[in-house]
Amino acid sequence: MTGCMDQYNPLPYWKQFTSERQITSEKHVALTDKGEVPPKAASASADLDPASAKYASLCSACHGADGAADGAAAGSMNPKPRNFHDKTWQAKVDDAHIAKVIKEGGPSVGLSGTMPPWGAVVSDEDVKGLVAKIRAWGK
Ligand code: HEC
Repeated sequence: MTGCMDQYNPLPYWKQFTSERQITSEKHVALTDKGEVPPKAASASADLDPASAKYASLCSACHGADGAADGAAAGSMNPKPRNFHDKTWQAKVDDAHIAKVIKEGGPSVGLSGTMPPWGAVVSDEDVKGLVAKIRAWGK
């Protein structure tokens, strides 16, 4: 038996609205010349290793996607974020120093508070990965 409420059941329509809303709030990607969705665009950060994903979301705005201190926020900063390709700096610091700066922030080693502490956000494992990533830029 179907009652009249079943006839006017709004649920299927509501479900459709919800899924449409989810689609429209997704990040839009630039299409290729052929008008196709680029293969990797949808999951760009999902393919990254954990340290690179953390770097991309937490560090790149200041230190730049490629570690060259050219992130969107870097321009107006004083002091500038560290450029990880700087070999002189790389030779001067040890891994423990880099890990400390990441976990406890600039002021923990006498640097600017513009470099925030990340200890509450990243695990020790992540910090190790970030140190390795930063070191790789120095080679
Ligand atoms: C809000 C901008 C900002 C963000 C986000 C940021 N940093 Fe920094 N970082 C700085 C600035 C500015 C300095 C330079 C501080 C100075 O020279 O006094 C710095 C310096 C550093 C240094 C060098 C310390 C040294 O000995 O010179 C390391 C390593 C570093 N950041 C790692 C990271 C990592 C890893 C992340 C992400 C987890 C990150 N930073 C996120 C702004 C930022």
